[in-house]
Amino acid sequence: MSMLTRLDHVGIVVNDLDAALATYCDQWGFHLVQRVAVPDQHVEAAFLDAGNSAVELIMPTDSESGTARFLKNRGEGVHHLCFEVDDIEEALATVRSQGLRLVDETPRQGIHGRVAFVHPKASHGTLIELLQRSGNDHHHG
Ligand code: CO
Repeated sequence: MSMLTRLDHVGIVVNDLDAALATYCDQWGFHLVQRVAVPDQHVEAAFLDAGNSAVELIMPTDSESGTARFLKNRGEGVHHLCFEVDDIEEALATVRSQGLRLVDETPRQGIHGRVAFVHPKASHGTLIELLQRSGNDHHHG
């Protein structure tokens, strides 16, 4: 078993969060769990219930952030996979010992707990988010 215990969510960058929510909720039938602005990351995010996992729709709220540049360069689509870990310090130490390139050298506070991103080059082109959920906030809610 990997230290990545569960696929917490798939992050998808979109141009227009309202339009994306209309598609995912009204057409696909997903239920909106949480919609939240994250000013320090210059994004607005919405989490949709996907059973044991979730879909995170992410809309940049500026034109300079990494997410905004991703959208400009690559268009809408899958941006990252987020895996839950039991201990983010330990997970980062393991990632570092494997020589995998990090985006965040130390964990930072995310929406549902402490997070750190691993560079896409480390995983054949896919940005990976590691999440240690805080308190009783197990699974999404
Ligand atoms: Co995420």
